[in-house]
Amino acid sequence: MSTLPIITLPDPLLRQVSDPVERIDAELLKLADDMLETMYDAPGIGLAAIQVGVPKRLIVLDVAEDDDQPNPLAMFNPEILKVDGETTRVHEEGCLSIPDFRLDIERPASLVVGYLDREGKPRELAADGLLATAIQHEIDHLNGKLIIDFLSRLKRDIVVRKFKKAAREASA
Ligand code: NI
Repeated sequence: MSTLPIITLPDPLLRQVSDPVERIDAELLKLADDMLETMYDAPGIGLAAIQVGVPKRLIVLDVAEDDDQPNPLAMFNPEILKVDGETTRVHEEGCLSIPDFRLDIERPASLVVGYLDREGKPRELAADGLLATAIQHEIDHLNGKLIIDFLSRLKRDIVVRKFKKAAREASA
């Protein structure tokens, strides 16, 4: 396994809609493993393939507490099948592609996600708490959506400008 470079704002790839996975082959399984290692190394609790520059519908997650056993999840073609529209949960979210930025976001508190597992078997998982939040955050990435999209236009522009300026300075 190896760690992969994570792309950050304002990389336009982050706005690309990812393509469905047609076939889970050895290359994609290695990508999933490398994404997990990249996520643990960062450290983070979720990562979408587009964040390492691959526009495929693949996300990895592990929301286990530090003291608990690791619980790595890899979901191919994840799709939210059901959400609890009544109950919401607010979480201060960060994103490995938007370093040093955090934002309180309100999302449905529980959901059922359908996906293909590593063997290509269709699975369904009921999630709540942090896992439900993380799944929604990562699926947003597959649709080119970022946490800054929960801000007003004005505030979003300020954040984007800051990252553009930092990128210019880094390449100067
Ligand atoms: Ni993110």
